[in-house]
Parts: sequence; structure tokens; C-alpha cells
Amino acid sequence: MHLHLFPTFCVLMTIILIHIPTSSGADNEQYTNCSRSYPCANILDIPYPFWGGDKPEYCGHPSFHLNCTGEAPQITIESRPYRVLAIDNGTFTLNVAQEEFWNNDCPSELHNATINATTYFEYAPNTEVLMLYYGCRVTSTLQLNISTTITIPNRFNCSENQSTEIFSVYVTASLASSGQSISNMNCSNSVEVRVNKTAAEALAGPASGNVTQVLNSGFGLVWAANNTDCQSCVRSGGWCGTNATNPGSFVCYCSDQSYPVSCNLTTSSSGT
Ligand SMILES: *[C@@H]1O[C@H](CO)[C@@H](O)[C@H](O)[C@H]1NC(C)=O
Ligand SMILES: *[C@@H]1O[C@H](CO)[C@@H](O)[C@H](O)[C@H]1NC(C)=O
Ligand SMILES: *[C@@H]1O[C@H](CO)[C@@H](O)[C@H](O)[C@H]1NC(C)=O
Ligand SMILES: *[C@@H]1O[C@H](CO)[C@@H](O)[C@H](O)[C@H]1NC(C)=O
Ligand SMILES: *[C@@H]1O[C@H](CO)[C@@H](O)[C@H](O)[C@H]1NC(C)=O
Ligand SMILES: *[C@@H]1O[C@H](CO)[C@@H](O)[C@H](O)[C@H]1NC(C)=O
Ligand SMILES: *[C@@H]1O[C@H](CO)[C@@H](O)[C@H](O)[C@H]1NC(C)=O
Ligand SMILES: *[C@@H]1O[C@H](CO)[C@@H](O)[C@H](O)[C@H]1NC(C)=O
Ligand SMILES: *[C@@H]1O[C@H](CO)[C@@H](O)[C@H](O)[C@H]1NC(C)=O
Ligand SMILES: *[C@@H]1O[C@H](CO)[C@@H](O)[C@H](O)[C@H]1NC(C)=O
Ligand SMILES: *[C@@H]1O[C@H](CO)[C@@H](O)[C@H](O)[C@H]1NC(C)=O
Ligand SMILES: *[C@@H]1O[C@H](CO)[C@@H](O)[C@H](O)[C@H]1NC(C)=O
Repeated sequence: MHLHLFPTFCVLMTIILIHIPTSSGADNEQYTNCSRSYPCANILDIPYPFWGGDKPEYCGHPSFHLNCTGEAPQITIESRPYRVLAIDNGTFTLNVAQEEFWNNDCPSELHNATINATTYFEYAPNTEVLMLYYGCRVTSTLQLNISTTITIPNRFNCSENQSTEIFSVYVTASLASSGQSISNMNCSNSVEVRVNKTAAEALAGPASGNVTQVLNSGFGLVWAANNTDCQSCVRSGGWCGTNATNPGSFVCYCSDQSYPVSCNLTTSSSGT
């Protein structure tokens, strides 16, 4: 019995010994994992450089974490939360809205969430500044003329039974340049938000627009996360990510192994 089984055992051992190194060498686990699609809240497949939810950090860039627990993905930029409305990896643009202004013109806490030209984000060209003023009163001389108070076109209300004397006003860049200002008013608080320029232009028209809708439409941010390296990687058949042993540095996951920028197809045995 032993004499008959020994050759079979040798053949099995040889197969196993040959197979172990080849399978682990030819099959890059990070490549496999990063090639999956990962949903995050209401977005079906978050692309590089984003990660979060089930998508591991090494498939993204450390500064592009998304919180996937709510109804829309949330990203924190310079300590302020933003609701992610859309991601376009073709133009490296994400559309965001300030979380506290989502369906809410009158947040209880106001923050000037200006995104400084950081390494990672800059405003898309089609954004515009919208100034929101709260707790405004018409200054005494004008307040004598009741009709002036009522005809302030760019006002919005922060409560249903708002008094006619205290109100809120929005001023877009185009309204400001056409002479609209708050010079006749005293406002207790103000905040600067970014909005989609096309949407903001609707507010500058003769009919007073809907500030909630403009705030909800968000604005564009262009990201920088080794964009050109990632394009080369994707073109060569790889998946972009971050070198786990060298945090912050780009890596390209390919079917055979990981490369600094793009897959080196010349090393693969079967040329395609
Ligand atoms: C790849 O994903 C699988 C399944 O989620 C997981 O078990 C494995 O640890 C991941 N591999 C790496 C290298 O993270
Ligand atoms: C954009 O993301 C999709 C989905 O993750 C992916 O299939 C595609 O390769 C990405 N394109 C680039 C240029 O990264
Ligand atoms: C994640 O987002 C949800 C809602 O979208 C929020 O309630 C929660 O505080 C966020 N978590 C973190 C860690 O920011
Ligand atoms: C926002 O910035 C303006 C000046 O641009 C300032 O007057 C205002 O007080 C700031 N608002 C908050 C909430 O910090
Ligand atoms: C952004 O830049 C302005 C002006 O340089 C500075 O006052 C402000 O503190 C910066 N904000 C952050 C979050 O770094
Ligand atoms: C009050 O405002 C109306 C409309 O703007 C203007 O026609 C009228 O002259 C003003 N009256 C006074 C006393 O300022
Ligand atoms: C704001 O409230 C005032 C007073 O209740 C009302 O006359 C006005 O129509 C309201 N404006 C809007 C835009 O809801
Ligand atoms: C503005 O738009 C919001 C969201 O679409 C809607 O709920 C609200 O009733 C609108 N307000 C006015 C004054 O039309
Ligand atoms: C800006 O708003 C316009 C009109 O609502 C829309 O067509 C466009 O896609 C928006 N742009 C961005 C970057 O959100
Ligand atoms: C791009 O990649 C290089 C090398 O991996 C790294 O040093 C650099 O910080 C990266 N840039 C960004 C914006 O992540
Ligand atoms: C990842 O980083 C380590 C440490 O810096 C380096 O030795 C390795 O070559 C990098 N891997 C790739 C694929 O660039
Ligand atoms: C790609 O592979 C070929 C053949 O092994 C090698 O000569 C070349 O240096 C490699 N190029 C890079 C960028 O790794």
C-alpha cells in the first residue's frame, strides 16, 4: 500500500509546491479588491480617489474619505462637512453642498466654509459666492417708508411667522454688481457660501428665486490626487490606489503586481 501511494503523494506535493508561489504571485489581491464596485450611500460606485464604507483606504487616497452611513455620502474638507451630490472622475469634479444648508436656508450655527486652495481641492470655474445675511432690519430713515421694507426682492424667511421688520437677505455677485446691496440695512449675522453660478443667476432675475433650491444644487470642486498618474494606470489596465507601506504615495494595482504608475505589460507572459 505504502509503495503504491508514495508516487501519488510525490506528484501531489509537487503540484502543491509549484502552485503556492505562482498563485500568490500572479494574483494581486489589492488589484482584485480595488476592481470591485463599492457603493457609498446613494452613489452606486465610488471611483478613485474616494474610499470609505466597504472600500478600503488603499483603493483611494487618504484625504478622500467618504462617510457612507447617511442618505448621501459626506466628505469633510477643512473640518466642515459637505454632502456629495455627484462624482465625475472624467473631469475630476465632485458636486457638493454644505451639509448644514441642505434643505435649510437658516442653519442654527453659521460657518464661513471657505475652501482655501489646498493641495487637494479648488473651486470649479462655474461657482459663485452667495452672501446670506440674517437678522436684518431696515435702517431707521428707510424704515419710515413701509413700502420699501416690503419690496426688498431678495429676502427670504427664517421662520413661518417672521416679522416684517426682521428678515434675511441674499446677495449674489451679479446682484451686488447691479447695485443691490445691504447698505440700507443692519444685519446681525452673515455667511458666505458657494453655489453653482448658473443656479445663482436665477436668483438675480426680476422674480425672487428660491434660495433653498440654489443651495441644494451645490457647487463644483476639482480634485487633485495624482490625476495624471491615475489616468496612465487606468489606461494600462490597472486600478489606482495608495501604497499602504508608504502612505500618501500613489500606486497602480495590476493583475500581476503593483507598480509605481502604470502596469508594465511587457513583463506579462501572455502578451495582449
Ligand atoms: C480583499 O477583500 C477580501 C474580501 O473583502 C478580504 O477578505 C481581504 O482581506 C482583502 N485583501 C486585502 C489585501 O485587503
Ligand atoms: C471612473 O470610475 C469608474 C467606476 O469606478 C471606473 O470604471 C473608471 O475606470 C474610472 N475612470 C478613471 C479615468 O479613473
Ligand atoms: C456620517 O454622516 C452622518 C449623516 O450623513 C452623520 O450623522 C455622522 O455624524 C457622520 N459621521 C462622522 C464620523 O462624521
Ligand atoms: C463670515 O465672513 C464675514 C466677512 O466676510 C463676516 O462678516 C461674518 O461675520 C462671518 N460669519 C461667520 C458666521 O463667521
Ligand atoms: C484660509 O485662508 C484664510 C486667508 O488666508 C485664513 O484666514 C483662514 O484661516 C484659512 N482657513 C483655513 C481653514 O485654513
Ligand atoms: C417710499 O417708497 C416708495 C417706493 O419705493 C417711493 O415711491 C416713495 O417716494 C417713498 N416715500 C418716501 C417718503 O420716501
Ligand atoms: C416672508 O414672511 C413675510 C411675513 O410673514 C411674508 O409677507 C412674505 O411673503 C414671506 N416671504 C417668503 C419668500 O416666504
Ligand atoms: C423652495 O424650494 C424648496 C425645495 O424645492 C421647497 O420646499 C420650498 O417650498 C420652495 N419655497 C418657495 C418659497 O417656493
Ligand atoms: C449648475 O446648474 C445648472 C442648472 O441648474 C446645471 O445644468 C449644471 O449641471 C450645474 N453645474 C454643476 C457643476 O453642478
Ligand atoms: C502624487 O504622488 C507622489 C508620488 O507618489 C506624491 O509624492 C505626491 O504627494 C502625490 N500628490 C498628491 C496630491 O497626492
Ligand atoms: C511602496 O512603498 C514602499 C516603501 O516606500 C516601496 O519599497 C515600494 O516599492 C512601493 N511599491 C510600489 C508598487 O511603488
Ligand atoms: C518593463 O519591463 C521590461 C521587461 O522586463 C523592462 O525592461 C522595463 O524596464 C520595465 N519598465 C518599467 C517602467 O518597469
